[in-house]
Formats: sequence, structure tokens, C-alpha cells
Amino acid sequence: MKGLILSGGHGTRLRPLTHTGPKQLIPIANKPVLFYAIEDLKEAGVTDIGLILGTNMPEMVKEAVGDGSKFGVNITYIMQGEPKGLAHAVAVAQEFVGKEPFIMYLGDNILKSGIKEFVEGFEESDYQARILLQKVENPQQFGVAELNQEGHVIHLVEKPKEPKSDLALVGIYLFKSSIFEAIKNIKPSWRDELEITDAIQELLNSKKKVDSHIVRGWWKDTGKPEDVLDANHLILDVLESYNDGKIEEGAKINGRVAIGEGTVVRKGSVIRGPVIIGKECVIDAYIGPYTAIGDHTTVTGGEIESSIVMGHAKIECNERIVDSLIGNHSCIVSVENRLPKGRRFVIGENSVVNL
Ligand code: TTP
Repeated sequence: MKGLILSGGHGTRLRPLTHTGPKQLIPIANKPVLFYAIEDLKEAGVTDIGLILGTNMPEMVKEAVGDGSKFGVNITYIMQGEPKGLAHAVAVAQEFVGKEPFIMYLGDNILKSGIKEFVEGFEESDYQARILLQKVENPQQFGVAELNQEGHVIHLVEKPKEPKSDLALVGIYLFKSSIFEAIKNIKPSWRDELEITDAIQELLNSKKKVDSHIVRGWWKDTGKPEDVLDANHLILDVLESYNDGKIEEGAKINGRVAIGEGTVVRKGSVIRGPVIIGKECVIDAYIGPYTAIGDHTTVTGGEIESSIVMGHAKIECNERIVDSLIGNHSCIVSVENRLPKGRRFVIGENSVVNL
């Protein structure tokens, strides 16, 4: 069985972070979201992986992942270019996949339990596709599946106005090579994309069998800022503590806290886990639960809680920062006694500031 990870797309909903890199490299608990997909495939015994690249700085993905050897897998890069839909991304991978069954994994999705249990039995079965489903409260925003009493899929619709079920498609799919023929028979949707739901529906129309598995643990599609923070929260919930840095006497560490090499936590600081702090950081502040701080970051004064601070950031202020996504090389500083009084910003396109 082969693996196919989709790491193209525009990531418009994650701007401005995606102005400077692909969304699949956004860190969740200090690790790019894409790495979780690679690790899940490896754990399921899939080591021959095709990685679909788009137009948004694909060289950054290549640099981060390399040939895959650091994960114990073998990566083949496949250029999709403009994002013309999930089914289009699969079609461009046909030569790589060949006749083998394969797992398609959206590079911005993250699944608590991994995928091992969902893969079992598929290869030898006569199912042409297996989809993963999860109950959601707002099925209108997802691809939705309708099942018969045996749990077989009978119908799929992309973002239905009047959903017939509350079972949303999770971004992980298993296919046999018959999917390529199905993709040839579909047309672009109203949003001008080749939809994978239409391709699976095409399998059903031609009497091919599709089965489904319900995902019980959590699943997150990190397409929007609030989803990225939720995913960070869920991963930090199972964080294991370690300390490779230096905690000065008089600093207080509570709960599960992971501190990277070369990081110094100054006296008077309070860190209340779960919190992960990268390498070579200086912390002289209160860091509250569900915060991830990337490498080479300085936090002096103030409080940060339930946030992601990426690498090389400087935060020197006496403010309370919550539920925030702070990009690489960002700087948030208080300037005392400035005249004329007022907030001063240098903010890139698509930034959001809530005062
Ligand atoms: P989406 O989140 O649906 O699309 P997007 O990345 O363009 O984001 P936005 O809507 O915010 O602009 O994509 C899901 C995953 O599939 C994501 O990892 C990107 C990837 N993808 C491709 O690789 N090729 C494609 O043609 C599309 C549409 C998505």
C-alpha cells in the first residue's frame, strides 16, 4: 500500500500566516502539522509516500521533509501546481501510485488515534474505497455521507444545504486504483474543482463498493486559525514533560511542561502546563496552559495563554495575550511614555488585531 499526502492548496483562510509559507508547515505543539500525517502513515506500515506540492512555496516543504529518511519513509514529490481540487491532486499522482491501493491523507488534517486501525483489511477486500467519517454539529460545512443500515455508503454530497446525515468526511481516504477511472468521468464543481466526493460518488454510481469507518477519537482539519489553536490544545493534552533547558531558582513550573535545549526560564517566571517551549528561548513571564512557543523566542513580562508563538519572536509587553497565533519573527513590544499616545502597528496583509 502506498501513501499520498496533499500539501498543495492556497490556504487563504490562514492568511497572513500562509503569505510566508504553506499551511502544512504551521506548527502544532511545535511540530509542523504535515509531520503528523507522515508519522501516522509510517505507523500504519506505509513507507512509500507521494507528497503533492502546490504553488505556495513548495520548496519549504521539501526542505522540511527532505527525502523522508528522518521519518523512516521514502518521499516522492509530485507537483500539482494550481489547486484544482482534491481529485485533481489524486489524478496527478497516478503514475506514482500505479496499480497499488493507497491512502490519501490531507496534509492539514490531524487525527488522535492515527490510521492503523482503519487500514486493516482494506487491501484484500473488494471495497474500492474506504472513507472515514465523524459526527459533526454543522454538516453543511463538510462533505457528508449517507449510509444504509449495513454501514455501506450510498450517497455523498459536498457541503449540502439540507444534509441527510451528520456524518462528515474526515480528510483521510483509502482507494484502489479504480478511483483514477472514476476521476476521469467527473466534471469540475461549481467552485471549479475536481471534488473527491464526486469521484467517490462516481464509484458508487458504477456499482463499486465503498465502506466507511466512524472515527471516535478527535479529528481536526486545521484550515482556519481557530482550528489550528484547537489542534494545538488537543495535542498538548497528551504532552509528556521534559526539561533540556535551565530553570532558574525561583521560577515556578506546574503541570506538564516540555522545555527545549538552551532555553532559560528566568526566576519569577510561572509556567503552568500543558506548555511546550522550543530551543534557545528566554522566558521571563507567565506562560499559561495550552501554549506552544517555538525556537529562539523571547518572552519578557506579561502573560501568554492558549496560544501558538512560532519561532524567532520577541514579546516584551505587560499585556495578557490569549488565543493568539503569532508568526515567525514577530515582535510585540510595549513602548512606555511614547508621545503622541496611541497604538503603533506594522502589520502585514490579512492580519487580524483584536483590541
Ligand atoms: P483545502 O483546505 O480545502 O484548500 P486550501 O488549502 O486551498 O485552503 P483555503 O480554502 O483556505 O484556501 O485543502 C485541504 C488539503 O488539501 C490541504 O492540505 C491542501 C490540499 N490541497 C491540495 O493539495 N490540492 C488541491 O487542489 C486542494 C484544493 C487542496
